Amino acid sequence: DKGKYRHFMEKEIHEQPEVVARALGYHTSFEGNRADTTSCMDFAGIPSLAISACGTAYLAGLIAKYWFERYARLPVEIDVASEFRYREIPLPPQSAALFISQSGETADTLASLRYCKARGLKTGAVVNSRESSIAREADAVFPIFAGPEIGVASTKAFTCQLVALATLAIGAARARGTATQDEAKALVTSLAEMPGVMGRVLNSIKPDVELLSRELSKCHDVLYIGRGTSFPLAMEGALKLKEISYIHAEGYAAGELKHGPLALVDENMPVIVIAPHDRFFDKTVSNMQEAAARGGRIILITDEKGAAASKLDTMHTIVLPVVDEIIAPMIFALPIQLLAYHTAVLMGKDVDQPRNLAKSVTVE
Ligand code: M6R
Repeated sequence: DKGKYRHFMEKEIHEQPEVVARALGYHTSFEGNRADTTSCMDFAGIPSLAISACGTAYLAGLIAKYWFERYARLPVEIDVASEFRYREIPLPPQSAALFISQSGETADTLASLRYCKARGLKTGAVVNSRESSIAREADAVFPIFAGPEIGVASTKAFTCQLVALATLAIGAARARGTATQDEAKALVTSLAEMPGVMGRVLNSIKPDVELLSRELSKCHDVLYIGRGTSFPLAMEGALKLKEISYIHAEGYAAGELKHGPLALVDENMPVIVIAPHDRFFDKTVSNMQEAAARGGRIILITDEKGAAASKLDTMHTIVLPVVDEIIAPMIFALPIQLLAYHTAVLMGKDVDQPRNLAKSVTVE
């Protein structure tokens, strides 16, 4: 039932404050003065972590790689499952491996899980469906509580995957002694702010998103750029847009612009810059200026601090509240999802059932 919404995708985007809160309720705990994560694998002595997934779930894993490496000092080997399973990666058997899948049935992800199990790795499944093959076969299951996701484009599963992965990274940091209890508490406390911020953002960005979608719906190509965790998010933005609007879109690391894609930029090419005011902000802005100097139409998605710090005439800006670094990917995912959604609706596309795609990919 779509309720008051026109499409499942729209409904699922707006469900995020609620489902993310549910995921947080399971993966974190607050008692008295303490705030902790509740799910963990045996991360303490392991040399590395492998992550395998497809599509949007893979991009959630790529964001998690930044977290595991930064907070837990745990090296992460990540690849799309269709490559992972055949790469003959020399995985140390003492390592752990995570498999991320909304459906829990994706053929390549399941094959990657079997590959790692056969090599003696401890396996964990980050899944929406606990009755799925991937959940059944993994040693540990980390449910994401997104509820049924009907739209082929993954939205709420993505942010709920990020919740589970963020808590696992914080748990790993505690287990490995790379974060103090207070540091972990600060991170968990930031995560707890997410549902409230999401609710406010979903209300506040609507006019901007609808306006910009009108522009995007006339374009043939769109480039998304970002640094740090905003880089996988740029790829997620491009995936979402191409999947439901059929507009060609690419997500790039901002620093890669001048290594190729800058050649594409002209006045017909919107460049969507994902730039919270974090430690990468100045660098991303200078990449943005390179694109603006070539006539590129810049759409900047930033926060209040970033908007105050970067004034470019040729620019549309979507301004989000300033949030802690660990929740920025989940908050910045919202305008990206809504831009894709409204653009596809304006173009008259079947957003819930895009051509050529299936919700669950159970064949190779
Ligand atoms: O069920 P899974 O999470 O394993 O599915 C993985 C991908 O097929 C999926 O995320 C796909 O990329 C989405 N349609 C993207 O919106």
